[in-house]
Amino acid sequence: MASFDVIIIGSGPGGYVCAIRCAQLGLKTAVVEGRETLGGTCLNIGCIPSKALLHASHSYHEVHENFEKMGLMGGAPTIDWGKMKAYKQDVVNGNTRGIEFLFKKNKVTWLKGWGSIPAAGQVKVGDEVHEAKNIVIATGSEPSGLPGVTVDETVVVTSTGALTLPAIPPRMVVIGAGVIGLELGSVYARLGTAVTVVEYLDAITPGMDAEVAKSFQKILMKQGLTFILGAAVQGVETGAGGAKVTYKLRKSETAEVLETDVVLVATGRKPYTAGLGIEALGVEMLPRGQIKTDHFATNIKGLYAIGDAITGPMLAHKAEDEGMALAEVLAGKHGHVNYSVIPGVIYTAPEVANVGATEEQLKEAGIAYKVGKFPFMGNARAKTVFQAEGFVKMLADKETDRILGCHIIGPGAGDLIHEVCVAMEFGASAQDLALTCHAHPTYSEAVREAALACGDGAIHA
Ligand code: NAI
Repeated sequence: MASFDVIIIGSGPGGYVCAIRCAQLGLKTAVVEGRETLGGTCLNIGCIPSKALLHASHSYHEVHENFEKMGLMGGAPTIDWGKMKAYKQDVVNGNTRGIEFLFKKNKVTWLKGWGSIPAAGQVKVGDEVHEAKNIVIATGSEPSGLPGVTVDETVVVTSTGALTLPAIPPRMVVIGAGVIGLELGSVYARLGTAVTVVEYLDAITPGMDAEVAKSFQKILMKQGLTFILGAAVQGVETGAGGAKVTYKLRKSETAEVLETDVVLVATGRKPYTAGLGIEALGVEMLPRGQIKTDHFATNIKGLYAIGDAITGPMLAHKAEDEGMALAEVLAGKHGHVNYSVIPGVIYTAPEVANVGATEEQLKEAGIAYKVGKFPFMGNARAKTVFQAEGFVKMLADKETDRILGCHIIGPGAGDLIHEVCVAMEFGASAQDLALTCHAHPTYSEAVREAALACGDGAIHA
């Protein structure tokens, strides 16, 4: 048995960041992790491995689409799927080992095993019970699944199985046109799979600015993805080496059937809190399975929760920010997360990124706004590298010019969005951004041009 100032259960981006900050602030800190490697879903079976496959499949696509145009001739590469998966695993290993290094450097103890909370102030790992002044639940989330659909991680897979398919399938049906479905769907489409995405709603990526979502869908269709929208999947039947997906268009009574080799179920995620013993402790929960918190504190003294296990967007960086803020609070400082400036990124090619309000949200809230839009077609750098699809859309308050939101579809969108995040944190106006010198030729000039378009007009449009 050992005693700690803080024990964090879960080593994903929420948990490990919280631990490092706690240790940096002088708290004796331990992290409980049962997986063989640190980093949680994000590093092991989520963000990081999927980005490796997105990079590899994008490179493959580039060779075939654009190399000849630049005078790069010669035999185009073929796919060695085993090697591609090995590259992906190397990337994962490098990152998870990196967290282990950071734990050692910051003197964070790794308690190996699955943790539970037998009583307030106690964490049980294996047969040992440890004491902690503060306990943080950072156990993340798991795929929420779909009634009538049994996941076997071979033919019917979640994002986890989709990262390790034994072969690149000729056909794939993706259920759900959310972030996971589109990122992994586009990986396989680029590797030659015929991908059909079935989505319950009438548009892809729910919650995204409608104009961006529409343009995104068009671009993905050009890349070969097929969409069936307004369709509820009712069941999946597996047979010899494949599956039949039954769905019903919401406007029709007849059920339709799609035959496929692999089905990716990407219909959302739910908090993962099983096995912690929080029911017996009397921890208050919300109807959708999240732990109820007030500034990360649960109703049990000394017990906190962050990340996907509580409310808010299920994003690694939101969990990280909560982890850092909570560490500050536990060290007697003032931790804070600004939930109105949390960027979202979809790592397809082109990338899609957003921060702040969508046009639809502003309309609904009755806020008078102006729109500044700039197409990447007017951006020299984007044209040079054959990535001139998409645009930047800046939304600013009609009266004050304060930036209210920004939506980008185009090259490097996931990086470009951050200058807008910083601007919003400082309460900047579109003019502040427009008057800031941007290097030429860069993609970020498109962000400045969108800001200029909120005022007297963009230059290159
Ligand atoms: P999601 O919530 O983004 O999308 C799920 C989609 O499935 C929705 O559009 C929904 O309408 C549809 N759907 C639900 N039931 C259906 C049915 N029966 N038939 C047809 N369509 C149906 O969920 P997703 O993509 O699984 O992602 C889970 C979480 O992980 C999200 O919160 C996401 O933000 C996060 N994530 C974020 C990433 C990023 O930031 N790049 C990457 C991967 C995941």
